[in-house]
Amino acid sequence: MKTTLISTKIVPEFHRQIGSELEAFLQYLAIAAYFEKAALPRLAAYFSRQAEEERGHAMRFLQLLVDNDVDVAIPSVPAPEVQFRDAEHAVTLSLERELRVTEEIHSLLRLARQENDFTSETFLHWFVKEQLEEVSSVDQLLKMIQRAGNHRLLLVEDFLGRSDQMKPSKKESEGG
Ligand SMILES: [Fe+2]
Ligand SMILES: [Fe+2]
Repeated sequence: MKTTLISTKIVPEFHRQIGSELEAFLQYLAIAAYFEKAALPRLAAYFSRQAEEERGHAMRFLQLLVDNDVDVAIPSVPAPEVQFRDAEHAVTLSLERELRVTEEIHSLLRLARQENDFTSETFLHWFVKEQLEEVSSVDQLLKMIQRAGNHRLLLVEDFLGRSDQMKPSKKESEGG
């Protein structure tokens, strides 16, 4: 007996979203490596943590499908951008990505509502909140980089070292 509680229409969209989260995972790994190479370890650590969060997001979607007795298909993902003009460019890219993912989450939620799929709707609420946190965190980082300027990124490093506010919350280390 199939025990699927989510809409059959939303299943391919969740598969696609696994790909989108993994794409973000790879992009943030690439940005972390860029900052590591530039000897900016705290910016690198910020993006390594972001990458781990994205992996956690992909795992949440994957687990939802498994819990719903769906055969999981992981899509192939394009290679991330690895050439960055400067820190501002790299962080702008990640803000654009977060805004795009927010749109994706919102359209998944619209579909869940259309389908009267309460299971998916409830599942997606966590992501709505998460996207607000992520967009606001990256937006704050971008503003700081713009204010400091690309030649004074050590100020940003110093701030990241002292501030807990800019650290993505610990919840992702628990698998989500
Ligand atoms: Fe994500
Ligand atoms: Fe994200």
